[in-house]
Amino acid sequence: MDKVERIGVSLDKKLLSKFDSLIARQGYKSRSEAIRDLVRQQLSSEVLSNPKAHAVAAVCLVYDHHATKVPQKLIELQHSHLLQAISSLHVHLDHHNCLEVIVLRGPVGRINKVAESLLSMKGVKLGKINLVATEHSSDS
Ligand code: NI
Repeated sequence: MDKVERIGVSLDKKLLSKFDSLIARQGYKSRSEAIRDLVRQQLSSEVLSNPKAHAVAAVCLVYDHHATKVPQKLIELQHSHLLQAISSLHVHLDHHNCLEVIVLRGPVGRINKVAESLLSMKGVKLGKINLVATEHSSDS
């Protein structure tokens, strides 16, 4: 943080009380830190709404490795999108189920396209894309 500016915020007492309870449950030590994180989240969401913005994403998939050819398809997809797939992690959850976490990097639009093609594959039981904006990440 270069320079810090203090601002005053007026809030309804009930709203402030709910906010304080929420941030206490989340483990925040101060309102300032919680508010800074909220502002960062909003700014990140704004960046992620632009398909050309750069981001990283963790794509989590749970699938039954007996039921389909998902593992082979996952490998093919990762190789055909080599620039976007930067890492992956495989965990054998039980006799049937596997968890795959694939980290993608690139423009938001391309990440979403690749991630959606993974999530929509036959045999994928659960899937989730977690995008994080990398633009302006050096700002406080
Ligand atoms: Ni497995």
